[in-house]
Amino acid sequence: MRLQGYPNPGEGLRLHLNENTGGCSPRVLEAIRNIGARDVSTYPEYSEIVRACARHFDVDPEWVLLTNGLDEGLLMAAVAHIARVRAHDAETIVPLPAFDPYPNATAAVGATAILVPPGKDYAFPTEAVIAAITPRTRMIFLNTPNNPTGQLIPIADLERIASAAPASVVFIDEAYIEFGGTSFLPQLPRFDNVLIGRTFSKAYGLAGMRVGIVIGQPRMLDPVREVTLPFNINGVARAAVAAALTDTEFLPRYAAQVTESRERLYAACERLGLPYWKSAANFVLVRVGDSAPVVRAMAERKVHVRDRSKDPTTAGCIRVTAGIREHTDAAIEALESVMAARQK
Ligand SMILES: Cc1ncc(COP(=O)(O)O)c(C=O)c1O
Repeated sequence: MRLQGYPNPGEGLRLHLNENTGGCSPRVLEAIRNIGARDVSTYPEYSEIVRACARHFDVDPEWVLLTNGLDEGLLMAAVAHIARVRAHDAETIVPLPAFDPYPNATAAVGATAILVPPGKDYAFPTEAVIAAITPRTRMIFLNTPNNPTGQLIPIADLERIASAAPASVVFIDEAYIEFGGTSFLPQLPRFDNVLIGRTFSKAYGLAGMRVGIVIGQPRMLDPVREVTLPFNINGVARAAVAAALTDTEFLPRYAAQVTESRERLYAACERLGLPYWKSAANFVLVRVGDSAPVVRAMAERKVHVRDRSKDPTTAGCIRVTAGIREHTDAAIEALESVMAARQK
């Protein structure tokens, strides 16, 4: 029975949710161990952590909203800019393939998602997105690097879309930007219709703490702040983020491993003759053909990867998280043995 969240895949290597396979900074664990009774018995206060995040991202603290995972930020943006203004005929634009919460948040606020298929080899469909903008378009979800393809949207294309949709909210989801690519953040002062989403779940390894961040000019961000619950980040998560921000070595060290792991995965795909797409994120999309039995066989070898076949734009594909080198090597070994067994 599925009770809440994602089913537990069981024992083994978790390479199915793009988590940080190296854990988190030891400073985070130390900060959590130092949590005292007062942190537990009082409602959390956020001004310090918001300032620390604003310094880290080099923006004004008033441009920062911490959310319970970026998932919450996405939903609250839809609540603020679609549900609360009673935009009954509202549309969102969702380029495919897409992270599920975009169509889900759209449906949750009673809007219609206009799905835009990708170009060849998942080239971002900039012209088609611009062509899909109508007076009903309330929100455009852009994900760079894209989950699950790992493809980036060029900054110039993000600017063109944001300029073409002055009456919409352009939500640029940069959940994986620390692993490759350039953030839109430096452009944000020129675009008062853009919100940028970031998360501490991936590069910082805090997925279990549930902290995301939405950054934008007050015109866009204040309505989101108004609908977000006042104590949405718990005190332990707050302490974890504060500690993570002080460890400036953790992230570059991990990102370097991810880069190397991606290269190892590419090389393995070449050896196996499997099509794959070069990725700017901490995962690689690989076309294996009949994906369900491959995913099952890898799970039997205690390596859990994501089956992407439910989505027609990624039919026959699996998505493999690239993290610590040894984990990637174990995934490659499992993939090689599964593919070899299938050829017999
Ligand atoms: C594209 C994208 N955006 C947002 C998120 C959500 O991150 P969080 O853990 O902060 O809710 C994910 C998580 O998988 C993601 O892939």
